[in-house]
Amino acid sequence: MKLDELRTLVVAVDTSTDMLACAVAWWTPEVFLDDTPSRACVEVLSSRDHACRRRANVELIETIDAALADAGMTRGDVGGYLVGRGPGSFTGVRIGISTAKGLACGANVPLMGASTLDACAWSAWQAGTRGRLAVAADAMRGEIYPALYDLDDEGPHRLFERERVVKAAAVAEEWAARVDAASLQLTGDGLVRHGALFEHMGLMEHALPRELWWPSGAGLLSAAASPEGLAAAGSTDPAAVLPVYTRLSDAEENERRRLGLSESPNAMLTGVAEELAGRHLQFRPMASADAEAMAELERVSFEGAGHAPWSATAFLSELDPDAAAARSWWVAHDDGELIGFAGGMVVDRDVEILDVAVAASHRRSGIARKLLAHVSYDAQVLGCTTSSLEVEDGNEAALSLYAELGYEAVGRRRSYYGAGRDAIVMHASLPLVLPLDPASPEPTAASARDWPLTVPQRSASELDLIARRQPVLAIESSCDETAVAVIDAEGNLLANQVSTQIDFHARFGGVVPEIASRKHVEVIVGVVDAALEEAGRSLGLGEGPLMPSELAAVGVTQGPGLVGALVVGVAFAKGFAYAADKPLICVNHLEGHLYANKLTTPDLEPPFIFTLVSGGHTMLVHVRAWGDYEVLGETLDDAVGEAFDKVAKALGLGYPGGPVISRLAETGNPRAIEFPRALNSRGDYRFSLSGLKTAVALYIEQETAAGRTIHLPDLAASFEAAVFDVQYKKAKGALRETGAREYCIGGGVAANPHLRRMMIEKLGRQGIRVTVPPQHACTDNAAMIAVVAGEKYRRGEFASLDVDADPNMTL
Ligand code: KG4
Ligand code: ZN
Repeated sequence: MKLDELRTLVVAVDTSTDMLACAVAWWTPEVFLDDTPSRACVEVLSSRDHACRRRANVELIETIDAALADAGMTRGDVGGYLVGRGPGSFTGVRIGISTAKGLACGANVPLMGASTLDACAWSAWQAGTRGRLAVAADAMRGEIYPALYDLDDEGPHRLFERERVVKAAAVAEEWAARVDAASLQLTGDGLVRHGALFEHMGLMEHALPRELWWPSGAGLLSAAASPEGLAAAGSTDPAAVLPVYTRLSDAEENERRRLGLSESPNAMLTGVAEELAGRHLQFRPMASADAEAMAELERVSFEGAGHAPWSATAFLSELDPDAAAARSWWVAHDDGELIGFAGGMVVDRDVEILDVAVAASHRRSGIARKLLAHVSYDAQVLGCTTSSLEVEDGNEAALSLYAELGYEAVGRRRSYYGAGRDAIVMHASLPLVLPLDPASPEPTAASARDWPLTVPQRSASELDLIARRQPVLAIESSCDETAVAVIDAEGNLLANQVSTQIDFHARFGGVVPEIASRKHVEVIVGVVDAALEEAGRSLGLGEGPLMPSELAAVGVTQGPGLVGALVVGVAFAKGFAYAADKPLICVNHLEGHLYANKLTTPDLEPPFIFTLVSGGHTMLVHVRAWGDYEVLGETLDDAVGEAFDKVAKALGLGYPGGPVISRLAETGNPRAIEFPRALNSRGDYRFSLSGLKTAVALYIEQETAAGRTIHLPDLAASFEAAVFDVQYKKAKGALRETGAREYCIGGGVAANPHLRRMMIEKLGRQGIRVTVPPQHACTDNAAMIAVVAGEKYRRGEFASLDVDADPNMTL
């Protein structure tokens, strides 16, 4: 094959530092006889590297567009993207990776990742540097990502294995103590802040000139094209490209300290089970970094099992759960080594165990039992009452383990594992009986996907259908749900997918912003894919998912919310819209909660009164016309959802509080305890919930001190009554004062059955038409964002590609 035929136009970006690095190049893999490329040849056509402090999300797309124009190219010519995976500024890395994922998905082309530290080393090499190079990249908070390289005529070679983060002073000491200290050539943006420190240690003598301290687009390209870069790259599926993590979030760090655990070599540790606070054996939810080790354990555990073992990609894709089938995966590890895992999938009220494996060296110590306990506990939290699994007939160890856990054989699948190898179907009620297990059982198989996707062939009538339906995709990532929906021109939902992170935050008693952002980056591609697939099915397309190029527009939540979470959705959406050449639509999350009512009452028309009660907001709004909002009153302190969460936390009921409290309240007496109703005077539409929260805390304290057990249902019902009475009275007052005859409600707390019933019955009796959104459209979801995006699409209200997330947006 001629090399030219393999030539691809690649756009490289890195926003991990204050440098917005961007270059466009021809990328030609050097293919020899064995057709695995060992390196690629890079021919840079244009570069637009420039300093860009905290404005990467604003400038990235326009910079790419300009660099392509410089090269005489357009977005349609791009055959692949390359992104710097850090380490660097957390937000900076996330903006680059999220945008790049959006670009690659929108164009259906490969995405490569490379280390930002390697890019720095290559930038130095390209400027003629040879010998020992020491990169000191700024990690903020007085820390540095240190990296040493040997630069010969071929290029830089790493003298370290994995990226790490170290106090700047410790790095300076470490380097000064080296035998080659005198010849070290320092570079990296950490020198801006810590130059004096390195100077003091006598290390700045051979420092590179300041303009080389940042990664360049050309450096990133060479890093990715080098033999080491290609070997480390892995999958080019945008779902698999993730930031280089070097440390835990503060919440995780604190938890680990509380549990007295020493530094773990596993940088992705996401939490530790409390009952196993020992230094060795630990259980935690699976993280993306586990996928490789899981695939390896799977391979050695099930050799000759008659079915394909799960691949790393297959495990990775389990981290992209969708609403229809939530997943729970747990791993066990010992001193950083993965020694077991188990996973299950929720189908209706049943959790299907998908796979269990334990390393041979650790069998018969109850690990499989513990793993299944975690998975089934998660499943119970998700509403499951039973569990099911398949196991190969004749696998006595597994069959007896499951029997001990309470599973009973209920059927047989003939030749399920190949000719003559039957599967026994087993069922158990939850919770599982949990004796010690003698061994670990058999897995089931899953398949990985190919990337890029095969472009589906469409018939003329399908093309016509798509053109008529004008599907708009919408993305929501403002808090702890990654959600994607597709809506058509008539307001019919074609897809509605949500991946919740609740499990990952629950152990911290609330949403941890850093974990939220990280999870969004990990799952966003999977959720978008699931939505496009669902949309394809809804439209009845014969082949493949709905493709990005077949969408009419791309909508995204711009704010309000957690800035690090919003940024992921916004950056992804911008990249996706740009690459697919579709208009971008920005949506206000609060307007989303309002428009969710249109899913129930499509002819809802202003003027009306709207109550917004969510985890972050409490508002009473006079909607005079669509887009014309008079906020009559807001909370002075806590939001209603926040109050539910805090009361639940005080009672040790976990997070989130709303669903638990409303379930308890079901059987309680709302008049059992008299809690205060704040700002209860007529015409006052403001809310205050901190007094109520204090009253509940006081009540718990008094009852406990008096030695009485708290009647949880009564407490929950009385608390709800205090909150909802006020909501009702103020809504009624606002309706009377404005003369509006129509009322609706939105936000997570609007999922509460008692609040819904109360408004429908009491206001209904007064001749008010009351709308409540479908229950699943109250807590954060993308369907509501899609409703707004659909309307804005019809009005032609598009956003430019330099918009940023706006965490403080209001109605
Ligand atoms: O709208 P949402 O999903 O997120 C924000 O935009 O804030 O609202 C989440 C809030 C949480 O505080 C949660 O406890 C509350 O909604 N919530 C409920 C119920 N379900 C969720 N509150 C009361 N009763 C419920 N059934
Ligand atoms: Zn919300």
